[in-house]
Amino acid sequence: MRAGIAVLPGDGIGPEVVAEARRVLAAVADRWGHAFTLREALIGGAAIDATGTALPDETLEISRAADAVLLGAVGGPKWDDPRGKVRPEQGLLAIRKGLGLYANMRPVAVTPKLAHASPLRPDLLAGVDLVVVRELTGGIYFGQKVREKDHASDLCLYTVPEVERIVRTAARLARGRRKKLTSVDKANVLETSRLWREVTERVMKQEFPDVALSHMLVDACAMHLIRKPADFDVIVTENMFGDILTDEASMLAGSMGMLPSASLGDGKRGLYEPIHGSAPDIAGKGIANPYATILSVAMLLRHSLELETEARAIEAAVGKAIDRGVLTGDLAAAGTKAASTEAAGDAVLEALRQS
Ligand code: IPM
Ligand code: MG
Repeated sequence: MRAGIAVLPGDGIGPEVVAEARRVLAAVADRWGHAFTLREALIGGAAIDATGTALPDETLEISRAADAVLLGAVGGPKWDDPRGKVRPEQGLLAIRKGLGLYANMRPVAVTPKLAHASPLRPDLLAGVDLVVVRELTGGIYFGQKVREKDHASDLCLYTVPEVERIVRTAARLARGRRKKLTSVDKANVLETSRLWREVTERVMKQEFPDVALSHMLVDACAMHLIRKPADFDVIVTENMFGDILTDEASMLAGSMGMLPSASLGDGKRGLYEPIHGSAPDIAGKGIANPYATILSVAMLLRHSLELETEARAIEAAVGKAIDRGVLTGDLAAAGTKAASTEAAGDAVLEALRQS
């Protein structure tokens, strides 16, 4: 098939992990006879340096014209001035909003070979297979912001249609899995959460009676994710809760460097990125973990291009690379030699070739 993919490497380790993902895309195109046209564009700090804005119009146009967008990471100390008018993160928020990508899927799977990398006991990790569906274009991230000399505020706003559509996305996903949906909120305190809970109840009762719904308060969920993570199937939650819970959940997989994500809207076009940030402390050293970005490519092929066979081949290849013990510093056991970013990419390519 022919497809256009916008590639936005961003800052820090972004370009390094995206480089490995590009090699994997090229190998898939080669092996299965696809023609992927990649167009690179600027976002984040790199875009601020070049154009003065974190999301140049050209980047948004290239992304709109593409079938899918692959993104590395944004941000870094260079642009961290809290008083600065432009921040790299604005680029990320603007592209999510600009493309209407309200549903962010963050799957968490545990590979036994990586159990040592998790701070949790291996017996707690057995059978963990969950997906967090994070609402991505509403809530406190996008509400009105006020900053005065002696006070500041961030508005948290959700509309009924915003809740309905994210609940439907999550429920459809749960339907194809173990049919368990946990909606996470703070309904004992927040009005937005009470609306969220009401709408979720109604949508599930009317449209998804076959999916078991439960509600959990976000603080309890944070605890339960550590105490009994294998209990969860699909979690649906609002923007900021999802941001926080997925960093926590990444520790089940052993490292932030293992979690991919897909951000989707109503159509097929999506944006795919690792959940980790730009890791400025290790940028430029060639030691970052590229697996989350490579796994994001698998999600891209699956959700935007409907290439399920190719997606599975990539996931299996990453699994094989890990089984062979090709582990970057974030995953390698103490005292063992860590693999470079490129070596991890090589191991995936090698496993793909043999599949
Ligand atoms: C994420 C990140 C972003 C977010 C930041 C970089 C704005 O933490 O994708 O989880 O908060 O959404
Ligand atoms: Mg985050």
